[in-house]
Amino acid sequence: MQEMKPQKAELLKKLEVGLILDEELKCLIRAQLERRVLWINSHNCEQRYAHLHNHVQSLRPTSVEMETNEVNPDAYDDVPIEFSKLIHGRAMKMSWCYFEAESTTLDDAEVAMLDLYCERAQIKDGDQVLDIGCGYGSLVIYIARKYPNCHVTGITDTTSQKEYIVEQCRNQNLNNVEVILADVTEYNMDKAFDRVMVIEVFEPLNEDDWIEEIIFPDMILTIPSADFLLYFQTDVSVVNHWVLNGKHVARSSEVWLKRLDANADTAKAVVEAFTGCEKEAMKWINYTRASFLHGIEQGGYNNGEEWLIVHILFKK
Ligand SMILES: C[S@@+](CC[C@H](N)C(=O)[O-])C[C@H]1O[C@@H](n2cnc3c(N)ncnc32)[C@H](O)[C@@H]1O
Repeated sequence: MQEMKPQKAELLKKLEVGLILDEELKCLIRAQLERRVLWINSHNCEQRYAHLHNHVQSLRPTSVEMETNEVNPDAYDDVPIEFSKLIHGRAMKMSWCYFEAESTTLDDAEVAMLDLYCERAQIKDGDQVLDIGCGYGSLVIYIARKYPNCHVTGITDTTSQKEYIVEQCRNQNLNNVEVILADVTEYNMDKAFDRVMVIEVFEPLNEDDWIEEIIFPDMILTIPSADFLLYFQTDVSVVNHWVLNGKHVARSSEVWLKRLDANADTAKAVVEAFTGCEKEAMKWINYTRASFLHGIEQGGYNNGEEWLIVHILFKK
């Protein structure tokens, strides 16, 4: 990693110990988001598409594998499940939820998004379904319950997530689920599936890089544009393509942040027991809070019309 400018290092230090007020942090995030929008608007349509084309070409030879090689394989093992339970809803969905109305609860928003995935993926009872990067199994378990004749396979690279799903299936008498513990970029699967789901698995940067990029202007994190994956159709072709307003990102982040804050003491105790160090625990919690503040600002930017959630249905 490049050496950090002293001003950046100072800000990060303040962030880690919680010395940046939420409003101040939100302003920094907004300024960064504005810079990105300005960059887009300062180029004409021909330049923007040439840039997109060059970017797609630069990723082609190594593609997704290159991205995922940069993932810290232990990243999620680092998260104690008790900490995740304080933040997420009943389904333990680690990705954006769908808030149909102001009054929608987190539990309902988790289910609404899971339902939308199934509808858009046109899952039928009896299908063989694979969920790559299945987290705590929100989608795996949802499908296994809703479609009892489906067989659902989840892949995760995280032991605690696999254990959680196995335990949930045992408690709920679900016999149509299999969980594979593997790095999907290296795992050879010989079985065929009717549906393959991938929900928010592309997260190429580690925590330090990530927070640096969020707050500071010289950004390198690739957040794909809504049409980015449409350029990767060598093995599959697009059947349908939907977008959802970024407000669902903002709302999910806001609710997760509120839950974390409401459980601040327990969260700190859980993380401290895990890391064995109060300073590390606070750093962890402050990074997590910053990521939620980022979600609030980014998802809510320009009334949710700028950074969107994208769903794409491909067929082979
Ligand atoms: C943001 S979480 C999303 C989890 C889940 N899809 C959901 O919506 O709740 C990303 C998931 O991808 C998994 N993951 C990331 N890289 C992976 C890899 N190379 N192989 C297998 N799983 C991976 C992580 O362990 C985590 O479960």
